[in-house]
Amino acid sequence: MKICMIGTGYVGLVSGTCFADLGNKVICVDNDKNKINKLKKGISPIYEPGLDDLIRNNYRSKRLDFTDDLEKAVKDSQIIFVCVGTPTKKGSNLVDLSQVYSVSKSISKYIKSYKLIVTKSTVPVSTGDQIEKLISKKVKKTLFDVISNPEFLREGEAIRDFKYPDRIVIGSDNKKIYKKMELLYEPIIKKGAKFLCTSRKGAELIKYASNAFLATKITFINEIANLCESAGINVEDISVGIGSDARIGSRFLRAGPAYGGSCFPKDTKGLVSISDKYKANLSIIKTVIKSNQNRKHLLTKKITKIMNNKFKKKKITVLGVTFKANTDDMRESSSLVLIPFLLKKGAIVKYHDPSGPKNEFKNNKNLKFEKTLSKACLGSDLIIINTEWDEFKSIDFKKIVKKNNFKIYDMRNLYNPIELKKRNIKYFSIGRQ
Ligand code: UDX
Repeated sequence: MKICMIGTGYVGLVSGTCFADLGNKVICVDNDKNKINKLKKGISPIYEPGLDDLIRNNYRSKRLDFTDDLEKAVKDSQIIFVCVGTPTKKGSNLVDLSQVYSVSKSISKYIKSYKLIVTKSTVPVSTGDQIEKLISKKVKKTLFDVISNPEFLREGEAIRDFKYPDRIVIGSDNKKIYKKMELLYEPIIKKGAKFLCTSRKGAELIKYASNAFLATKITFINEIANLCESAGINVEDISVGIGSDARIGSRFLRAGPAYGGSCFPKDTKGLVSISDKYKANLSIIKTVIKSNQNRKHLLTKKITKIMNNKFKKKKITVLGVTFKANTDDMRESSSLVLIPFLLKKGAIVKYHDPSGPKNEFKNNKNLKFEKTLSKACLGSDLIIINTEWDEFKSIDFKKIVKKNNFKIYDMRNLYNPIELKKRNIKYFSIGRQ
């Protein structure tokens, strides 16, 4: 099929490249010329394992192309995916839909033959209705349909998640469309993905409800971890114990720092603003947002305790500063609270992240990026493991720190406390003694 992806951010670029890899002819559009030129050279603007190779292969095979010419892309395509950003409006829970509406207006100028317009961006309930209204100002209703097809890709696992999703959700009020989308996703459905069809508004809500539920699950286990720490219980036993109940499920029950990233914080807020609009009180989600925010500060209190409130001139190493492993994404990462806290307390901070140094942490004389793990840890008083990269999982700490009495605060529970205590290392973790 001939497909156009509007927006070459995370969703558009990964989905477009994967659709091309399935044999479709895909044109990715972005108004950032610089980005388009880089993509044509096979340089991906985002960090995603495996994506560069997939882009190059499909570009060479002429199944995938990039352009800033929206008019041509729309005219040449049968299906148009809207994949632009839907950030939170500053100072509120509201979703900023300006990019979605501006793209919809532009599309409407170029529709001359039938087009299927698919919203992949995460958009509040009834945005599809607004897009349809907007386009029908210029285009006859028989020449287009607007449907919803949310994505559930995780950063760092996006290609795998696209190719082997648990489900594909199609939201359309015109049932004839389901078959068309089933055909597009046929190779993935054949591998076992569930194909779920619902109303357009239903699909829009499924996306928000999924992310909010996962955020709730994480927040739940994080609060249980707090209880475990006070009561002397191992939170991992609790995760296995409750997760073995098929009704609960074992995934997303890893206690850790506050959740972050481009989706959970944004979409939980977005869901609250949707519920406000429809006058429904989603008190659980409101509490989740608050609890996750508090968690960032709660963990800094724990660090104060670990350090006996003595930070001045202490050397502290932070391993991993992104919101999770296998990404370079800093959005809503708990390190954005953690590192300023350590600096304010007077510590000398070094950080190492396999995805490289970060602009957020530039220009501070007490904060330095180290290229290697061993340099970052050398002479440290406290090592904080903030993300779960594979290279952080089997460090010989004594060998690389080269001093006595250092402490470790493992916020991802990567190590066995008994083993480290046997080696006389002062080790602290989440929800474990
Ligand atoms: C998420 C959703 O998983 C995905 O379906 C959606 O499309 C986009 O948002 P992503 O933001 O890439 O994906 O990251 P994810 O792996 O879900 O993790 C989000 C946050 O939760 C991270 O900060 C992660 O460290 C944290 N997390 C996740 C936990 O603390 N514990 C867990 O058990 C799982």
